[in-house]
Amino acid sequence: MQIIKTVTLDYRQYLTEKEILEIEHEVSIMETRESAGIEALKIVQHHRGWISDESLNAIAQLLAISSAQLEGVATFYNLIYRQPVGRYVIHICDSISCHLLGYQQVLQAIKTHLGIDYGQTTADGLFTLLSNVCLGGCDKAPVMMIGQQHYEHLTSEKAVAILNGLIQSKDGNLPGDILDKTDVGATIVEVKND
Ligand code: FES
Repeated sequence: MQIIKTVTLDYRQYLTEKEILEIEHEVSIMETRESAGIEALKIVQHHRGWISDESLNAIAQLLAISSAQLEGVATFYNLIYRQPVGRYVIHICDSISCHLLGYQQVLQAIKTHLGIDYGQTTADGLFTLLSNVCLGGCDKAPVMMIGQQHYEHLTSEKAVAILNGLIQSKDGNLPGDILDKTDVGATIVEVKND
């Protein structure tokens, strides 16, 4: 169980005006302030990259719920990062279909190419590698997700080409843009995590 660092803060001094406005918008379309928890976490993570204890406490204060309650939401949702992550977070599926169709080779190629293991971030801050339960593309395994993109029918070579495409496009393009630059042969599907 994660120990949340308790700090006394005023959320109005910690969260930006834009973050507060966006969270209040979500609150306005929910039945209760509490219901906006996951959306509020996603908003702050979108602006800051991850959810620190200070962010968690500030959001909880804004929503008038306890930090422990909000931590429960953050822990349940595996796309909320409670530690700093790289610009691109690689979620590679380690469930059964992907295991049977080449997950190990793809994972090893990614680890070797980036020089990181699960839970680690590259020294340049570009990539973090995480495992994920089934990503819903079992008939197109192996699958990984980076940002809003699912990459399907992966091989070791395709995975490395995708990463290289992201490295080359790091100065401004989003993951999907590598489609224009790199013919990697993997099926790429845009997903919405809302
Ligand atoms: S088992 Fe990997 S996507 Fe379902």
